Parts: sequence; structure tokens; C-alpha cells
Amino acid sequence: MLKRNTTCSPSMSVVFQESMKLLCGHAPPAGARPELDAAAPYRLARITDVPAITRIHNESIADRVATFETELRTEAEVAAALAERGERYPTVVAEHGGQVIACAGAGTYRPRACYAGVAEFSVYVARASRGRGAGQVVLAGLIEECARRGFWTLVSRIFPENMASRALCRRLGFREVGIYRRHGQLDGAWRDCVIVERILRGADDDHPGR
Ligand SMILES: CC(C)(COP(=O)(O)OP(=O)(O)OC[C@H]1O[C@@H](n2cnc3c(N)ncnc32)[C@H](O)[C@@H]1OP(=O)(O)O)[C@@H](O)C(=O)NCCC(=O)NCCS
Repeated sequence: MLKRNTTCSPSMSVVFQESMKLLCGHAPPAGARPELDAAAPYRLARITDVPAITRIHNESIADRVATFETELRTEAEVAAALAERGERYPTVVAEHGGQVIACAGAGTYRPRACYAGVAEFSVYVARASRGRGAGQVVLAGLIEECARRGFWTLVSRIFPENMASRALCRRLGFREVGIYRRHGQLDGAWRDCVIVERILRGADDDHPGR
């Protein structure tokens, strides 16, 4: 489990601190939750992380819990996606014991210019490391990096049954906008999707009621 006090150190940016404040003071669930590497709660992904990111992503494809994708990704595809996202769309990772165990990435929401500040995100934790706070670390890190780049909204879609993902988003200040019914088919079965969003800036000015 991440060290709450350490993670909320004053050296981190306001946005990251705000995200982590949502976590601080929250008692971790019962059971063993080994700490993540506290000195580096998250970092931007590097090309050398591609094998780990591919492995983590493919576990979630195989688990059928998180994505409509059914074909496992190759390292070449993941490397190409990382390169295409470039500096504009960040991907962050968290390590434990020198191994990348979680990743979160932002990508294009819509190509039209009016949506330039909206990014769609995904977050994946290695199967063996789920439920230990790694998802919180990388998603809070992604929020930080997106805010720094001037994005104003993060959105995603979650299968309604994915309680871990919905809890993670709720914990980090996302709101559930609504549900897309019969949004797509996975293995021949229609699946709904919960839409989530987090406004990164300007929300209080534009929508005081939020
Ligand atoms: C969803 C996922 C990213 C969450 O990351 P994680 O490291 O496992 O979650 P964390 O330990 O950071 O916990 C985040 C929140 O989820 C809750 N949670 C974790 N596992 C849970 C589970 N199996 N059921 C219900 N809630 C769960 C935690 O209690 C915490 O909520 P809280 O702070 O209100 O208590 C991770 O489980 C995962 O990679 N799952 C498979 C891929 C996936 O679903 N990605 C999201 C696609 S939209």
C-alpha cells in the first residue's frame, strides 16, 4: 500500500496533492497491502517499460473485465501507441521492487479542436498487484500530468460490473455521468458502460453547483 503521509509530501504539485488528499485519511482495506516504492510514487513511462505495460494490459484483456478488446496486444503495438501519444498524451507507471506493476494512459477523446482539452484514459494494474493502492497511484499521477499539460477533462467508460474501477474513480473525484446501454459486444454479449468524468480545471467557475 502506498504511504499516505509520504505521498502527500509538499514537494508534489497542488493537483497531485488534491488527488492524494482524497486518499489520505482513508483507511486501507483489511489484509496485507505491501507498500509501493514511496520515493517514486509514479513516473512517466519510458520505451523500456513497453514489455511490462504490454503484459499488464494483456492480463486485463484476458480477464474480460476492463475492455472490449479481445486480441492480445503485441509489444510493437504498445510501443507504437506510446510513440504516437508523444509528449502531449502522458502514460505513467508505478513500480514495486523494481518492477512496473501499474500503468495509466491518456489518449485522444475526439479529433475536433473543441475537444482538445478532453482526454480519454485507461488504467491497468498487474493481476497479482491489484487491490494494493497501485491503481490510485497511477491514476492520481495521470491526473497530475494531464492537468500540467492543460487538459480540462478526463473521461472514460467502465463496465458496470467493474467495481474496483468504479471505486477507484470515485475515490479520485470522478463522477458517474450516466450509462451507455448496449454500448458494444464482448464475446457476443451486449455490455453497458458507465461514463465517468473528472473536470481538472475551471469546474468551480463554470458550474458552481458541482
Ligand atoms: C481497476 C484497477 C485499475 C484498480 O486498481 P487497484 O490497484 O486494484 O485498486 P486500488 O487498490 O488502488 O483501490 C482503488 C479503490 O478500489 C477499491 N477496490 C479495489 N479492488 C476492489 C474490488 N475487487 N472490488 C471492489 N472495490 C475494489 C479499493 O477499496 C479502493 O476504493 P476505496 O479507496 O474507496 O476503498 C485494477 O483493479 C485493475 O487493473 N483491474 C483490471 C483492469 C481494469 O479494470 N481497469 C480499469 C478499466 S476502466
